[in-house]
Amino acid sequence: MNPLTSTSAQQTLELGEAVGKGISQGVSIALIGDLGAGKTTFVQGLAKGLGISEKTYITSPTYTLINEYPAQTLTLCHLDLYRLGSVEELEYIGFDDLVDDTHVIVVEWPGILAEISFQFDLEIRFTFDDHYNRKISVFASGQSGTNLLSRLFP
Ligand SMILES: Nc1ncnc2c1ncn2[C@@H]1O[C@H](COP(=O)(O)OP(=O)(O)OP(=O)(O)O)[C@@H](O)[C@H]1O
Ligand SMILES: [Mg+2]
Repeated sequence: MNPLTSTSAQQTLELGEAVGKGISQGVSIALIGDLGAGKTTFVQGLAKGLGISEKTYITSPTYTLINEYPAQTLTLCHLDLYRLGSVEELEYIGFDDLVDDTHVIVVEWPGILAEISFQFDLEIRFTFDDHYNRKISVFASGQSGTNLLSRLFP
């Protein structure tokens, strides 16, 4: 797909919401982009799209590493691995047990997961353009990721 342009936080929220509405089973999503690119903003919209109450404030899990929010049938697991020192620390947060059909796993700063060859279903890349807008591109890998991508952006 062509990159989308988001000119406001609201537009990034709406994109996240649309993605959340399209999710009906467990999925893993990598969010890639520099500081302030809009990754957490996207997750706030995603939470809304999954049906999580707007009263639930989605905060950045920079220090907690993971925040979990129950939705109707799925659970949103929002991770930020920016401060993770080593892959061994993933055990502490129970990463292995997260990957199942009930968890929507969304990971900011996922780079360290390459060390365990973790494959995300979707990868969403956020970059800045010359006007400080965000360019957002979505890539799929594997069958379920490809199916989801073509459902989201037919
Ligand atoms: N088009 C846009 N999309 C997303 N956020 C935007 C946009 N324009 C401005 N913003 C602002 O940029 C900031 C993005 O912050 P956010 O916490 O989502 O970034 P992040 O990618 O999660 O950063 P970090 O790597 O530090 O966690 C917010 O303050 C938001 O209001
Ligand atoms: Mg963030």
